[in-house]
Amino acid sequence: MSAATNAPPALNGNCGGKPVAIEVQHIVKRYGDFEAVKDVNFCVAEGEIFGLLGPNGAGKSTLIRMMTTLIPVTAGRALVAGHDVSEDPDDVRRMIGVIPQALTSDQDLTLEENLLIYAKLYGVPREQRKKNIDAVLEAVDLTKWRDAQTKTLSGGMRRRLEIARGLVHNPRIFFLDEPTTGLDPVSRIAVWEMLDKLKTSRNLTMLLTTHYMEEADKLCDRIAIVDHGNLVALGTPVELKNSVAGANVVEVHFDREDDEWQGRLEKIEDVTSVVPEGSGFYRVITKSGSKTTMQIVELAASLGETLTSLSVQNTTLDDVFIHYTGRQLRDEQVKPVFMMPPRPGAQP
Ligand SMILES: Nc1ncnc2c1ncn2[C@@H]1O[C@H](COP(=O)(O)OP(=O)(O)OP(=O)(O)O)[C@@H](O)[C@H]1O
Ligand SMILES: [Mg+2]
Repeated sequence: MSAATNAPPALNGNCGGKPVAIEVQHIVKRYGDFEAVKDVNFCVAEGEIFGLLGPNGAGKSTLIRMMTTLIPVTAGRALVAGHDVSEDPDDVRRMIGVIPQALTSDQDLTLEENLLIYAKLYGVPREQRKKNIDAVLEAVDLTKWRDAQTKTLSGGMRRRLEIARGLVHNPRIFFLDEPTTGLDPVSRIAVWEMLDKLKTSRNLTMLLTTHYMEEADKLCDRIAIVDHGNLVALGTPVELKNSVAGANVVEVHFDREDDEWQGRLEKIEDVTSVVPEGSGFYRVITKSGSKTTMQIVELAASLGETLTSLSVQNTTLDDVFIHYTGRQLRDEQVKPVFMMPPRPGAQP
């Protein structure tokens, strides 16, 4: 685990001993006086699935937009497949596929028509286009829908179409901005499985953003936690969890909800943070699970309060996030997925 902002980036074409696919060095993005991305460094190795995990407004999309040449870099630099995004944007674009945060396929066109537009846009030779479209439709399991209008697809199928669209020119590096936001849990898992399969079958490097802990944990080889434009921690899911080791999580439920509990629990020795979960439930992060458990029991007894449950849990990525940011990352912070409005005159 290399924690923190000022860790030097891997240089000389390697990232942790593997060939490097993406290298970000001291990158900054300013909008006027506001710094949306602050001196961020990381590298992504070839064949890796790398996750940027952070809450709304953390700077995830801004980072992706800089790496994919959509917005200029204010300071620092990013190298994608060996090309500098500021100096050689065309070379970068040839190597990458991008799925933006918003769903942008034209709803009135068929799947095949949507894919064809992108194949042309990305300069896929005419004789190659049908072959590529067949292959990507097959890869995302949408072959039988090729002539359907896009607006007839479910949310999960539309995401899969976007994935197909991002791959139609056979890129080496795939950028996905929140690939599963707004999907139901079943469709989300289907997309994870698909991405994992595509990584292997197409020999892809992937960089994705997410605010789903489970997504980062299950799908990503390594995760960078981003908060307020800073990279606050970087490592494999296991490394990140171990980095807050020594930390235990005690889950406690009091019979009676009382505003005082948060403050009382925070005052207990060894407790580093307390997360209220509602209805009398608290998640207490502590350096000593056993000692804190005893102290909570004693405290409740001395106050004549009843504990309905008490258990010591393993560290999760949630705890890692709280440890590094001091805040909780919860799914309800997620904004609804933005959909492109239908074109004027289109049937609803
Ligand atoms: N064009 C812009 N002008 C000014 N501020 C901007 C602009 N684009 C983004 N920002 C600000 O930069 C910060 C980072 O935004 P960004 O979209 O990168 O966050 P994010 O991590 O992708 O969030 P979300 O999870 O909501 O997509 C936010 O505070 C946002 O308001
Ligand atoms: Mg975003």
